[in-house]
Amino acid sequence: MDAGIIDWELLRAEATNAMKKAYAPYSKYPVGAAAFTADGRLVTGCNVENASYGLTLCAECSLVANLQMTGGGQLRAFYCVDGAGNVLMPCGRCRQLLYEFHAPAMELMTAQGIKTMDQVLPDAFGPQHLEDSGDTGN
Ligand code: THU
Repeated sequence: MDAGIIDWELLRAEATNAMKKAYAPYSKYPVGAAAFTADGRLVTGCNVENASYGLTLCAECSLVANLQMTGGGQLRAFYCVDGAGNVLMPCGRCRQLLYEFHAPAMELMTAQGIKTMDQVLPDAFGPQHLEDSGDTGN
């Protein structure tokens, strides 16, 4: 993949394929996510629910786990879909999960079009806040 040209249609199709693997017997709301890494790999994820409802893993959790398990790196372009294959906005917690691994140029598809990570999670707390803080908490 050319780092400058994102195949959003391919990403949407891969997110839809991932959505079909969701385990969502409780909400019956399957979600799929797909992303290109900065070095051109594809990573995907689906939501995995639990009988203890609050323990549900969102599709983005599964995606970032797959990212780490398949070589790590940073996310360049991200697409999330619902059960109908329509673009879905990542929940607040998942925006934070994505932020951890975002490439500087990361873009996300939204119902309002392509947005940057900073647009969907302004003033984010991130790894930069833990560097050189010098504060041990004591
Ligand atoms: N869900 C995701 O997988 N990602 C999101 O960003 C929003 C919500 C899942 C969690 C749960 O399994 C279902 O959607 C309904 O909330």
